[in-house]
Amino acid sequence: MNSPTVAQLLADAARSLSRAGVDTPELDAELLLAHALGVDRTRLLTHPEHILTPEQQTAFRALLDRRLQRHPLAYITGRRWFYDILLHVTPAVLVPRPETEELVARALTWLQTHPRAMVADIGTGSGAIALAVAKHTPPTVRIVATDISARALDVARSNALRLGLDQRVVFLLGDLLAPLPEPADLLLANLPYVAERDRSGLAPEVSVHEPAGALFSGPAGLDHLRRLLAQAPEFLRPGGAVLLEIGYDQGPAVIELARRVFPHATIRLHQDLAGLDRLLEITKTQ
Ligand SMILES: C[S@@+](CC[C@H](N)C(=O)[O-])C[C@H]1O[C@@H](n2cnc3c(N)ncnc32)[C@H](O)[C@@H]1O
Repeated sequence: MNSPTVAQLLADAARSLSRAGVDTPELDAELLLAHALGVDRTRLLTHPEHILTPEQQTAFRALLDRRLQRHPLAYITGRRWFYDILLHVTPAVLVPRPETEELVARALTWLQTHPRAMVADIGTGSGAIALAVAKHTPPTVRIVATDISARALDVARSNALRLGLDQRVVFLLGDLLAPLPEPADLLLANLPYVAERDRSGLAPEVSVHEPAGALFSGPAGLDHLRRLLAQAPEFLRPGGAVLLEIGYDQGPAVIELARRVFPHATIRLHQDLAGLDRLLEITKTQ
């Protein structure tokens, strides 16, 4: 049998991925083959006639098999772009989502007028939010990042080292705001907010392969946000702000929780690119 070309391998792989229920079969086939060959996707697509060695075919097959079992692409390649930083990701951390970049953008806008702020990223996972904020702020902005998972913090710390940001972010293990050494000016969090009852509707990439401790938060998905908000007044300085990522249907419930603990604050919802409620912003005036 003739050795297959890049074009033939991509077409076969995309067909198998599509049959396995993968949403973007062509793109995933290209990214996996590019990763197996150690080239970028453009190079792959401009050399469709290239023939793979048997070793390259074996390496690609191993990656493809994992994707057919619906392992997230980011866990297979071990990396994911977030904002403008390349993060290493493992199954110990949630794969950072594009929606969360909006939280970073709003945090950076707030920090432009608060260049000496103390920032806390609660439930940092891969370190995505804390590290993106660190990259785009002067060293006068101090940043602490917490997580309840020691394995997640190992990933976050190694990302900080690789990105040369390890002197900018202090990583602390513990429950929500408890590890903070002092109150913060800006509290940021993308905590678990999926309702237990929604588990069965999730794609296998999420429900089977991402850490349950990064996703689920009680019957309505609000347990973490409720507890965080209850602790927040003690850990937020006067004039401070809170930015929380929320589920698209949680806006009214989270506003009510926030009003109870911050009756005099300005509370706003922001929508994501799809027009869905995605961020809660609390600005404390005193
Ligand atoms: C939805 S993931 C988000 C990770 C990261 N912030 C991001 O946006 O990609 C939630 C993170 O919160 C952490 N977490 C869950 N419960 C926590 C708690 N009680 N205190 C601190 N972190 C917690 C999980 O381990 C996980 O890393």
